[in-house]
Amino acid sequence: MRLQMACLILAAGASGAWAQDLAAGKARAEAVCAACHGLNGVSVADTIPNLAGQKSAYLQNQLKALKSGARKNAVMGAIAAQLSADDIANVAAHFASLPAAGTAAARSGFLPNLAKTSVTFPDNHRATFTLYQTLNRPDINQVRYLYANPVAMKAAKDGKPLPDGSVLVLEQYAAKLGADHKPITAASGFFEPDRFVAYAVMERGAGWGHGIPEMLRNENWNYAVFTADKQHRAGTNQAECLACHKPLDQKSFTFSLDALTTVARR
Ligand code: HEC
Ligand code: HEC
Repeated sequence: MRLQMACLILAAGASGAWAQDLAAGKARAEAVCAACHGLNGVSVADTIPNLAGQKSAYLQNQLKALKSGARKNAVMGAIAAQLSADDIANVAAHFASLPAAGTAAARSGFLPNLAKTSVTFPDNHRATFTLYQTLNRPDINQVRYLYANPVAMKAAKDGKPLPDGSVLVLEQYAAKLGADHKPITAASGFFEPDRFVAYAVMERGAGWGHGIPEMLRNENWNYAVFTADKQHRAGTNQAECLACHKPLDQKSFTFSLDALTTVARR
């Protein structure tokens, strides 16, 4: 009888229905998912769903949809793409096993190893870096200016991956809006900048990827956001930067390597 049961479980396991390894799901969740969904499954931000106590089948379906692209989200899609069928079953079982958050549940804190960044504000980038791209973001009414330091320019010129010592700065401005509430486009074709929003900076240095789980790690890149007075902006979760830039591993984790290379070779 006992033998029969064991066989049943094994057979079910092979078919996937029982193929859940709670310990593996917990380990994965605590190393990676917790950076955004919280160690206890209560998320770190209003834009990120709580997972604690959610139904396992629902979580699995959402992860499969995010992995296939049927459900689209740049950050979560990049993570789901790296999950195997077993990973999906395991993490879903883990989150389903956690007690659901009450209505008054607090937010979780960031994971210290992911919130920590080695990026410092670069000296005088407007004078010493190259402005290699300007772009309009009509989806959020912004105009953005992208700068690269000489180390990055040299590597791009030589067709090499951006090495340690590379620094890229993205300046974000809210566009000036016309009477129709649409951005005003200057003769250059770019939106007229109105109000400074933030500096987003990515920089890489030897050993800077240490302590970041592989699913989020961008080799040695670290990320940071700075305010107008060049202070780290509070509430920045580096895990989101890493997740969204992660799929660009063939482009030195940047969205703009082609533009950078074109300008570097001029
Ligand atoms: C960098 C932040 C980040 C990390 C790390 C992260 N997620 Fe997410 N996750 C999100 C965001 C943002 C959403 C909301 C996506 C949307 O709006 O469609 C989400 C949505 C989900 C959903 C859908 C929930 C629902 O209610 O529909 C599941 C399931 C999920 N994540 C599981 C995971 C698992 C499992 C991991 C770890 C392997 C993980 N996430 C790691 C940011 C993250
Ligand atoms: C939802 C996806 C997403 C997230 C999250 C994200 N980025 Fe980006 N990032 C982009 C895209 C897309 C671009 C290309 C420029 C643009 O469209 O504004 C970009 C460009 C950049 C650049 C210019 C170099 C390049 O890759 O082309 C820097 C620097 C940068 N991001 C820093 C950050 C920092 C710092 C964070 C975290 C606070 C972050 N990013 C989070 C999508 C993202």
